[in-house]
Amino acid sequence: MRAEEAPGPGLAVDNRMYLVLPARSANLSLARAAVAAFAAQLPFTVEDLEDIKVAVSEAVSNVILHAYGPAGGDVAVTAALRGHDLEVTVEDNGCGIADVSQARQPSFTTCPDRMGLGFVLMESFMDQVDVASAPGRGTRVKMCKASSEHRAQGGGRETNGGEPPHPAL
Ligand SMILES: Nc1ncnc2c1ncn2[C@@H]1O[C@H](COP(=O)(O)OP(=O)(O)O)[C@@H](O)[C@H]1O
Ligand SMILES: [Mg+2]
Repeated sequence: MRAEEAPGPGLAVDNRMYLVLPARSANLSLARAAVAAFAAQLPFTVEDLEDIKVAVSEAVSNVILHAYGPAGGDVAVTAALRGHDLEVTVEDNGCGIADVSQARQPSFTTCPDRMGLGFVLMESFMDQVDVASAPGRGTRVKMCKASSEHRAQGGGRETNGGEPPHPAL
């Protein structure tokens, strides 16, 4: 995927970011904070922004832990604002996932020291999670979340009012 890729027809992208980093744990907090700061342009609650950070952390951690062998590789993090929706993709060119449905099951892991809850957390903190993967070619995780005032049950919670990112970011 290239940074200059245009959005699909009919999808008005109000803003977007594209970050490519070596898939190393040293870059995890940068990826998480960058997406949260970007998302804070929408009226997400502080709680929402924390949820987004967890979901991005899980997706990027998976690339760091699972996608590449010792030679390493890059992780590409894209975020786009469409109206009141945030869309985040986390992508790699690594080993891919042979069985995506199995990988998304709670407690499934290929690493004995892991919990196998990354995809479950992404699903619980975001409105929608799509995983596309091809063995030997890589994985793309696409996650969407609507900002609170545009959710059916979103009333009554504190929002950041579209102000610059919360200081906790
Ligand atoms: N980007 C990725 N590249 C290769 N395999 C992945 C990737 N993301 C997830 N996986 C596979 O899916 C499994 C489940 O992921 P997850 O639910 O995050 O649990 P965990 O990371 O604790 O193993 C991983 O153990 C791994 O086998
Ligand atoms: Mg994981």
